[in-house]
Amino acid sequence: MCGIVGYTGPNPALSRIIEGLRRLEYRGYDSAGVALIEKPASPLQVVKRAGKLANLESELVKNSEANTGIGHTRWATHGGPTDENAHPHIDGSGKLAVIHNGIIENYLELKRELERRGHKFTSETDTESVAFLLAEEFKVVNDLAEAMRLVCKRLKGSFTLLAIHSDVPGLVVGARRNSPLVVGVGTGENFLASDVSAFISHTKSALELGQDEIVSVTSSEVKVMNLAGESVSPKAYEITWDAKAAERGGYSHFMLKEIFEQPKAIADTLIGRITESGLITLPEIEKLNLDFDRILILACGTAYHAGLIGKYALEEWSKTPVDVELASEFRYRNPVLSKKTLVITISQSGETMDTLMALRHAKSLGASTISICNTIGSTIPRESDAVLYTHAGPEIAVASTKALLTQIVAIYLLAMNFGKEKAGVDLKKIATELLSLPNKVEEILETVEPLREMTRGYKDATSVLFLGRQVGYPAALEGALKLKELAYMHAEGFAGGELKHGPIALIENGTPVIAIIPSEESEIAAKMKSNIQEVIARGAKVIAIADSSVKIDLPTIIRIPTTLDLLQPILAIVPLQVFAYEMAVARGNDVDQPRNLAKSVTVE
Ligand code: AGP
Repeated sequence: MCGIVGYTGPNPALSRIIEGLRRLEYRGYDSAGVALIEKPASPLQVVKRAGKLANLESELVKNSEANTGIGHTRWATHGGPTDENAHPHIDGSGKLAVIHNGIIENYLELKRELERRGHKFTSETDTESVAFLLAEEFKVVNDLAEAMRLVCKRLKGSFTLLAIHSDVPGLVVGARRNSPLVVGVGTGENFLASDVSAFISHTKSALELGQDEIVSVTSSEVKVMNLAGESVSPKAYEITWDAKAAERGGYSHFMLKEIFEQPKAIADTLIGRITESGLITLPEIEKLNLDFDRILILACGTAYHAGLIGKYALEEWSKTPVDVELASEFRYRNPVLSKKTLVITISQSGETMDTLMALRHAKSLGASTISICNTIGSTIPRESDAVLYTHAGPEIAVASTKALLTQIVAIYLLAMNFGKEKAGVDLKKIATELLSLPNKVEEILETVEPLREMTRGYKDATSVLFLGRQVGYPAALEGALKLKELAYMHAEGFAGGELKHGPIALIENGTPVIAIIPSEESEIAAKMKSNIQEVIARGAKVIAIADSSVKIDLPTIIRIPTTLDLLQPILAIVPLQVFAYEMAVARGNDVDQPRNLAKSVTVE
């Protein structure tokens, strides 16, 4: 949470930083600020404002001469979203500024100590202590990177920190622990940022920074050291997508664009990994110990739903027991894991704190680990034994769409790989179906207009229920999550079989119920039809998302193409995404940056 950009080079720092912050605003958007070195050895120019980045932009002096600076968009943890709590935070002299993503867990202790030494705090944040500590150390060692190293040794918690000091103009120093920070290496200019989208229009060359590393960046040089003060060579990589991919490209919202990118995203996840004849090639996991007798999937939010959906195919094709657990729950218990447990973590960002901590917990218990991830070089894949990248391209909207579908596809690929030569697994048939999914999603998107129109008719509903069975159940959970986060409506997903065990009491006259029905051949179809009759009898207005083979007579049916029942969520989820999107628009909500949320949850 929080977007961070640092720049130094021959160009105006302010415009580079604001451009970067615009691209990072999805990470946090309750306040924003910049600090610029206008004149050596003089107080910095610091401007910060509560609210969206636009509020800050309207305050800025556009013709700043500064060539070095830092900028921040915030998702508040300590202290509300006010001008005072916005970053950057400065030391008493006004010559040093710090921005921070994460939580400094021992900040109160540090604050008391600093107050005893006469420092006056002006914010309620955990970050301000770092500014004072850094200024104290800088006074002693006269080296900003070394001062940062000494300060980091005293900090507990998770952080990305960037700092500038006007006594060393042309230098930006950064540090990271359990929170993202990448270097963008330009020509005669360099960047530090939470993710590569901040500098993608200026350079595609990036450097990965490891855990507890300190980086110093000038216009011509990047130096990295570890907490022990030893020099480290960062791993370089090239970004494979361009600035256009991180722009709205004519769509009214990033979410809509990303929904429409799903056919391509699925195709890109499959490319080179599967053939029509069912041959699976996953070189990424070749070196992994595949002698496992149990699979455990760990993830959060929508990625957790990908795990719940994938479990069915993974278990059926690999013939191995599969459990799926919320990473945030797993990390705080003492699970029974062995060397024969394969742990799969799923994360779009690769930086979700709970998933990262769950991964470390699983590793400490001896499990082998694979991550399914969309962000190259992020922490979770770096710390896993193997990684299967989803290649969905940048996902900017806070609500996850294309990342989810490609995560599910990645699990299918693993399931097929583990199911090679297992009795009753027809890999050729599965492969043919998988390869046809991009066209089938395309077909749904081409006929989605009536659904959009119909959704607006439900805009005043107080609650929406989602029903599914088998793989349709986690798909229903995802439909409900999307609606909550985007439309701010009460929404629940239920397993059809559970309806009579309690949830049916929620049905009132006119309650919208979205029911997912698999193909007519599936025994689940008949059960779902019974559930639908039960809720209709109690006044519900049902919207069925039904395989095109299903025989049912209802006023509102969204037909989706036929596929294998285990693969159906890939298709059924698309109308659910569109429903949530349209509902958010109809209710006047901010689709891409829903209230209280941030794209990447890098704090607990
Ligand atoms: C989905 O729409 C969410 N915004 C959220 O649940 C997200 O999927 C979750 O925070 C996990 O993120 P990750 O995939 O980056 O780990």
